[in-house]
Amino acid sequence: LWGRKPFISGNWKLNPQTRDEAVKLAADIAATVTPESPDADVALFVPYVFIEAAQKSAGDRLFVGAEGVCPEIKGAFTGAVSATMLKSLGVQWALAGHSERRVIFGESDEYINGQCLKLIEQGMSVMLCIGESEAEYEQNLAGPVCAVQLRKGLAGITAEQMSRVAIAYEPVWAIGTGKVATPEIAQSVHATCRGILRDMYGDAIADQTRILYGGSVTPESVDGLMAQPDIDGALVGGASLDAAKFGRIINFQ
Ligand code: G3P
Repeated sequence: LWGRKPFISGNWKLNPQTRDEAVKLAADIAATVTPESPDADVALFVPYVFIEAAQKSAGDRLFVGAEGVCPEIKGAFTGAVSATMLKSLGVQWALAGHSERRVIFGESDEYINGQCLKLIEQGMSVMLCIGESEAEYEQNLAGPVCAVQLRKGLAGITAEQMSRVAIAYEPVWAIGTGKVATPEIAQSVHATCRGILRDMYGDAIADQTRILYGGSVTPESVDGLMAQPDIDGALVGGASLDAAKFGRIINFQ
């Protein structure tokens, strides 16, 4: 059995533009993880090209993960990066299902499921991102949309393998908009998601799986979110590009 250790993670997206910038940001963020910090996993999801440099610069204070992965391992897939390649760099975590990948790059639930399965097959871990659009939210569809994305994304993943899965609930209307979900709204969708996991995998797995919130998390909003019973961490975009801000989020209270 495993526990719900808090999980604070940053997603740099396409932001740091140079290796030097990535190295400095990773080092500055790593320096905010101290023995006094909360007992949490900390991860940075960074562009492929900066993974090795960020790993060296961050040391062992945090995980450096990938922002994605190809669901294929080898062959004629120009431009792709496989789970085995990432594993050879010592990468343990990768994102799958981020709304930007779903919307801008057209990744389907089936493709996302392939990414999850490949990572798990390689003994790696995956953070599956889910979340409803603004229109869906307004129609009260957050729960049903998350249910479909969870069931399709996790298809074929066994209860034993769920120790290597974390879920990130990111309502699309809250991403990069400054419109963070209130702790109450986020808590209610997290509880719904945990209920879906309960239905899929039973009580023990549902109670042990970490569900992170993402969408305009800031130093000002993190403590209220983390105080909710079903919010186990944060996936942070914009604020993870500023070491002081992300450091405050890592050191949530
Ligand atoms: O994956 C994190 C993300 O999509 C949230 O971005 O900038 O709203 O914190 P942001």
